[in-house]
Amino acid sequence: MRIGVLTSGGDCPGLNAVIRSIVHRAVADHGDEVVGFHDGWRGLLEADYRKLDLDAVGGILALGGTILGSSRVRPEHLRDGVERARGHVADLGLDAIIPIGGEGTLKAARLLSDAGLPIVGVPKTIDNDIASTDVTFGFDTAVGVATEALDRLKTTAESHQRVLIVEVMGRHTGWIALHSGMAAGAHAIVVPERPFDIGELAELVGRRFQAGKRFAIVVVAEGAKPREGSMEFDIGGKDVYGHERFAGVARQLSLELEERLGKEARPVILGHVQRGGTPTAYDRVLATRFGWHAVEAAHRGDFGMMTALRGTQIVLTSLAEAVEHLKTVPMERYAEAECVL
Ligand code: F6P
Repeated sequence: MRIGVLTSGGDCPGLNAVIRSIVHRAVADHGDEVVGFHDGWRGLLEADYRKLDLDAVGGILALGGTILGSSRVRPEHLRDGVERARGHVADLGLDAIIPIGGEGTLKAARLLSDAGLPIVGVPKTIDNDIASTDVTFGFDTAVGVATEALDRLKTTAESHQRVLIVEVMGRHTGWIALHSGMAAGAHAIVVPERPFDIGELAELVGRRFQAGKRFAIVVVAEGAKPREGSMEFDIGGKDVYGHERFAGVARQLSLELEERLGKEARPVILGHVQRGGTPTAYDRVLATRFGWHAVEAAHRGDFGMMTALRGTQIVLTSLAEAVEHLKTVPMERYAEAECVL
């Protein structure tokens, strides 16, 4: 069998572990050939690829990023490129393509799968927002990075009697905010799933100071927005891929809280540090299992499917189901954190 692999969308710790696992299972166990397309869908559309043998994936299990490179693609470019992709798949004699990516990549994978290309998807995103898998690899690493940052920020916040508003990633969902906030004992957690009321937030943080505490840590997901009419808010615009370009919720919250509480406040934006560097052991294992199962699915001819974690089992789920909706934080999960709005 000849298998093509690509990584697309925002990178994520564990991508290299999937690539390595696919090559090990396919080449070493099945005697397949594997090629890797460069920079996501662009590599497939332009037939820009290289052969991936066992040597090519040596030493990459613990490496962050992706040895293949990644990029985002505009949906209309991909739609226009379906026939070109089909031509390259035929010319290269590919029997299966394994795209590894998040929401946008999986939607693109579905488009190509519906057009008849042999696709098995692998979900990835630090945001953990892909429906139909319990967890995506990269999330555990991102939560670990954010938690360590929060732990560190507590000491400087206390020294200066400040409110630190820490912005973590999470465009549509607050999984990283919720988990890191709970793990680090943040004093308020703000998620996109529940638009915040600035008055309520100021009161929650203010109560802490009234109780004699000298600092407060607020964790906010980058995509969080105020309840309509509760505060003036710059929501930013859209980038060329149709993604929201945020105007800085932490910065806006810090100005507002400083004024309302009369306490010094500072925004801290963790940004891409959450996505960089070595994956945790959990993410390496999940990524490795996804790679192994994706190869098996390709050998069985289970196309139009995606690997997913359910409980402790790796299962296949249809790409159609996977992209139907995002997995948001349920309010009963949010309620379990003691510092919610
Ligand atoms: O989707 C993953 C993610 O890391 C989001 O959490 C974040 O909003 C986005 O990617 C950032 O994208 P970019 O790297 O293009 O700025």
